[in-house]
Amino acid sequence: MATTEVRGLGHSVKRKEDERFIRGKGNYIDDVTLPGMLHMELLRSPFAHARIVSVDTSRAEALPGVVAVVTGELMAQHNLAWMPTLSGDTQAVLATDKVRFQGQEVAAVVADSAYVAKDALELIDVEYDPLPALTTPQQALEDGAPVIRDEKEGQTSNLIYDWEAGDKEATDRAFAEADQVVELDTFYPRCHPSPLECCGCVADVNPATGKATIYMTSQAPHAIRTLFALVAGLPEQNIRVISPDIGGGFGNKVPIYPGYVVATAASLLLGKPVKWIEDRTGNLISTGFARDYHMHGELAVKDGKITGLRTSLVADEGAFFADAQPSKFKIGLFHIVTGSYDIPAAHVRGEGAYTNKAPGGVAYRCSFRVTEASYLIERLVDVAAHELGVDPAEFRVQNFIKPDQFPYESATGFVYDSGDYEKALRLALEKLGYDDLRKEQAEAREQGRLIGIGLASFTEVVGAGHGKQYDIAGLRMFDSAELRVHPTGKAILKLGVKSQGQGHETTFAQIVAEELGIPYEDIEVQEGDTDNTPYGLGTYASRSTPVAGAATAVISRKLRDKARTIAAHLLEASEDDLEWDRGRFSVKGAPDRAKTIQDVAFAAYTDLPDGMEAGLEGVHYYDPPNMTFPFGTYAVVVEVDRGTGAWKVERMVAVDDCGVRINPMIVEGQIMGGLTEGFAIAAMELITFDEDGNCIGSNFTDYLLPTSWETPSFELGETVTPSPHHPIGAKGVGESATVGSPAAYVNAVVDALAHAGVRNLEMPVTSAKVWEALQEAGLAE
Ligand code: CDP
Repeated sequence: MATTEVRGLGHSVKRKEDERFIRGKGNYIDDVTLPGMLHMELLRSPFAHARIVSVDTSRAEALPGVVAVVTGELMAQHNLAWMPTLSGDTQAVLATDKVRFQGQEVAAVVADSAYVAKDALELIDVEYDPLPALTTPQQALEDGAPVIRDEKEGQTSNLIYDWEAGDKEATDRAFAEADQVVELDTFYPRCHPSPLECCGCVADVNPATGKATIYMTSQAPHAIRTLFALVAGLPEQNIRVISPDIGGGFGNKVPIYPGYVVATAASLLLGKPVKWIEDRTGNLISTGFARDYHMHGELAVKDGKITGLRTSLVADEGAFFADAQPSKFKIGLFHIVTGSYDIPAAHVRGEGAYTNKAPGGVAYRCSFRVTEASYLIERLVDVAAHELGVDPAEFRVQNFIKPDQFPYESATGFVYDSGDYEKALRLALEKLGYDDLRKEQAEAREQGRLIGIGLASFTEVVGAGHGKQYDIAGLRMFDSAELRVHPTGKAILKLGVKSQGQGHETTFAQIVAEELGIPYEDIEVQEGDTDNTPYGLGTYASRSTPVAGAATAVISRKLRDKARTIAAHLLEASEDDLEWDRGRFSVKGAPDRAKTIQDVAFAAYTDLPDGMEAGLEGVHYYDPPNMTFPFGTYAVVVEVDRGTGAWKVERMVAVDDCGVRINPMIVEGQIMGGLTEGFAIAAMELITFDEDGNCIGSNFTDYLLPTSWETPSFELGETVTPSPHHPIGAKGVGESATVGSPAAYVNAVVDALAHAGVRNLEMPVTSAKVWEALQEAGLAE
C-alpha cells in the first residue's frame, strides 16, 4: 500500500477529532452528568492576607437544597486541609489558619444545584483579621517582611529557593576581558493561560465498591492519580482519573487545584457524585498564573562576539510554590537562556519568593520558564546590536551556534541536538524583504514616520526527560504507547499523554500509519483514562511528540518486527528475503508473493508460526536520551503612531524548524495559535494587583484577550532539521511561537524608537507606554 493512501508523515490530513468538535458533540467536563449528582461551589477569600478568626456555616446549612458545607476545619479532621504540590511544597486545600491570596478557597457548599450552592456561599459568615499584603517579590524578600508561610516549620522568610547554574568564575573572567558590556533589566509580567474551558471535575466515589472515578480537566491524569493516592490514602487501583475532551489547557490544567480535592472528599463523605465547575473569575483569580519574572541580564562582548552572559532574576511564585517543575531545576529550564548563541561562559542565578498572590509559575505554553529565558536573551541581543551600532540580523548570525557545532553543549549544561539557525533567519529575512525594508524604514523616518523591524531567533528545549535527570514530584519523565492491532487490521493506540486540542488523535495515528502502513483512519487513538491507558506524565511543555510520539514509533516498529516473522511464515520464505514497503511484505525478486499488514494481523490471531505467542500488540515506555531543540526566527514589522503611541503589526513572518513535521497543517495551526498568544502577551494581556493584593484582571473586561480584530496576519515558513535522536526526527512545536514571538513584537516597537535612544519597553507594550517613551525621546507629535 502506498504511503499516500495510508497518510503517514507529512500529510496535512484534517483532524479526526474535529468530526465531533465542529458538530458540538465533544464530551467536556460539564457534559458529564451522573445519577444523583450534587453540585459544589467554592467560597473564596476577599482578602489577600488575613487571619481567619471564625467560620460560621449555620445560615448556609439551613438553606433548602444545601446538602453540606465543607470548611478547612472539616478537611483538617480528615487530614486533608493541606496537600502536596507538584513542586514539593504544600498548599492549603481550604484555608484554616490564614488566607494568603485574594481568591483563595475558604469553604465549599454542596447542594442539589449549582445555583443553590452559589447562593449559599453568601450565607457563610467568615470573620477575617486583615494583614498587610506583599504583592511583589522585592517587598517579600525585604528584611523584616511578614512571613507569609508562617505555618511551615523552619520558614523564617519568604524565600523559597536560591538556585544557580553555569560557571561563575569563567563568566566573571569573560566580563573582565570584554570590550563592552550590555545590560537590560526587564519584567515579564504575570499573565494567565485562560483556556476557553475553565477547570472542573466530577468526583464519584462509590460507597459500595470504594472505587473513586474522577472526571477531571487534567493535562496529566496518571500523575494526578498517583498524587491522589498519596494525599487521600486511597489504594491507587481504586482511583480512576478520566480526562474527557479538554477545551484548552496551556499549562493551566497541570496543577492539582483545591476544587478537585474538595469535590473528591465531599463525594467520599456523602457517597454521591459531586460536580465542581469553576467560573471564569475563579479561573482567572486562583488557578496557575504564568511568568511574573523580574530579570536582569548582561552580555559581555569582545570583537563583536558575545563572550559571556550573566543573569539574575527574582520569581514571584505566589503564596504556594505549586507549578509542575522538574525537581532538580527550581527555575525550570530558564538556564537555556544562552538561546541560539555560542556563548562560552554563562552564569544564571534565580531566587523565588512567596507573595500574597495566587500560585504562579505555571508553564503557560512553555517548557518550564523557557519563555522568560528566550525573551531575555532575544531582547538583550537586540539591545546589544543597537548599542554596538550593528544590524541586529548580522549580530545574530555572527554569534549563532554553527551547524557543524552540533551536538552542542551550552555553557549551562544543555546538549542541543541539531540546528541551523542562520538558515531559518535568512529565510525569514528573504520572505520579509529585509534589506529593502531597512531602506524603507530610513526613508520613512525622514518623512517623520516610525517603522520598526523586530527579530527573534529563539531556541527551545522540549520533550522532558530523560527520566534520570527530569522528574515531577519524583515521577520520572518518560512516556508510553500501547498499540493493539486487531485481527481485521484495525488498531487502537493508547497513550499516557493527553491532548487539549493539539490534534493527537490525528497525528499519533499518522505515526502508526507511517510505521505499519495501516491507513490512519483505521487507527483510533485513546488518551486520558488511567484505567485504560499506560502510565505517562502527561501533555505540557511540548513533550507529547518528542516523548509519546517516539514511544508510538518504537512500539509500531516492534510490532512490525513480529509482523515480519509472521509474514515469512505465511509466505514460506526467510525473513531476510522479505522487503517492506509500508504496509506490505513481499519476497525479494518476486513482488507478487506478498502479504499485507492486514493479512498478517489476521494471521496473528489465526495462523501463527509454531511456538509464537498470539496477537499483535504491545506497549513501550520511552525514556528519551535527550530533549529536542526546535528553533526558528520570527520577524515583525510595526508602524508606531507618533500622535497616540498606538502600534500596528504590518507584517509578521515566522520561520519554524521543528524537525520532521507529522501533519504540516496541524503544525501551522499550532504556530498561528502561539503567535496570537505571544502577541497578546506582548501587546495587551496583564494581570496586576493593587497594593492590598486585589487582583485586577479577573475578568475579560480587564484581562484583554485578542479577538480576530486585533490579531495580526501571519506569513509562515519552514526549515527542516531533524532531531538525530528521535525515531522519526520530530521535535515538539506546540509552544515555540508563544516562546519565541513576544520578543519579536517588542523588538519591533523598540526598533522604531531606537534611533532616539529608546532601549526598552515593558510588556504589555500598551499605547500609553509607547506614548510616554515617544514624549521622553522627543518623538511625540
Ligand atoms: O505536547 P503537545 O501536544 O502540546 O505539543 P507537540 O508535541 O509539540 O505537538 C502539538 C501538535 O503538533 C501535535 O498534534 C503533534 O503531533 C503535532 N506535531 C507535528 O505534527 N509535527 C511535529 N514535528 C511536532 C508536532
